Amino acid sequence: MTLNEALSDDVRIRRLWKELQEEDRILDLGYRTKNNCVIGTKGGIHGHNNVVFQAAIWSQLESYPSGTFLDLGSGGGEIVIRFARKGWQSYGIDFCFNCYQVAQEEIARCEEEGHIPQGKAKIAWGNFFPPEFPVFQSQDRTEDSFRKDIANHLRDNHPSGNPYSRLGIALAEIDVWYHYQVERRENILRLFAEYAKSGAELFFISSFRDTFTVPANLTLEDSFEGVLFRYKKS
Ligand SMILES: C[S@@+](CC[C@H](N)C(=O)[O-])C[C@H]1O[C@@H](n2cnc3c(N)ncnc32)[C@H](O)[C@@H]1O
Repeated sequence: MTLNEALSDDVRIRRLWKELQEEDRILDLGYRTKNNCVIGTKGGIHGHNNVVFQAAIWSQLESYPSGTFLDLGSGGGEIVIRFARKGWQSYGIDFCFNCYQVAQEEIARCEEEGHIPQGKAKIAWGNFFPPEFPVFQSQDRTEDSFRKDIANHLRDNHPSGNPYSRLGIALAEIDVWYHYQVERRENILRLFAEYAKSGAELFFISSFRDTFTVPANLTLEDSFEGVLFRYKKS
């Protein structure tokens, strides 16, 4: 089923929305505003994705056997927790320390209250680009709308070291990758093309217009309204 088909299937989408809304009550989404985190701190770049896109992603993954999930830039941890609730081994990385702390607190609370199994959701503080990965910058400011904020987060020399070793994972183990765009698509696609295993999928939510090429070993499986994209590594 394509994203368009899924999103025009009212019954299905209504059911998914209902599930998401029920989860929202569990997830105490007030924690975002309380911690001034996802709403935006000085030098911070945060967000939480639209419920339509979450429903669309779930509509695609319903028949998928749960596996490993990684949120590149996990913010307050909401998406990581949602995947853990569905039985996925779920990881997130964020270089914003405030976000990381909020996400950790929220995971601990969800575990304590039995909303997610212990150890299914894990977050690390750090840069999701491995140190040896060359991050391309654009000459065009509009393409790097978050660049100054990213620089403020000490991306290139992150004090926390390697978040992947702290999570105990390698990018080649991840089944489903996800990025809500604050980084140039070119960089995310190259990262996915170089490090993902064959058959892995990337859900990408676009938040600004930038130029990019799709590496030859990736296929665009589907897209929705120029905002949600699903890529697969061949
Ligand atoms: C738009 S938020 C997305 C939050 C969450 N994934 C969601 O969908 O609700 C993007 C996050 O990416 C983080 N981020 C951006 N570049 C990063 C990098 N290179 N390494 C780690 N985190 C990064 C930001 O700090 C921010 O919290």
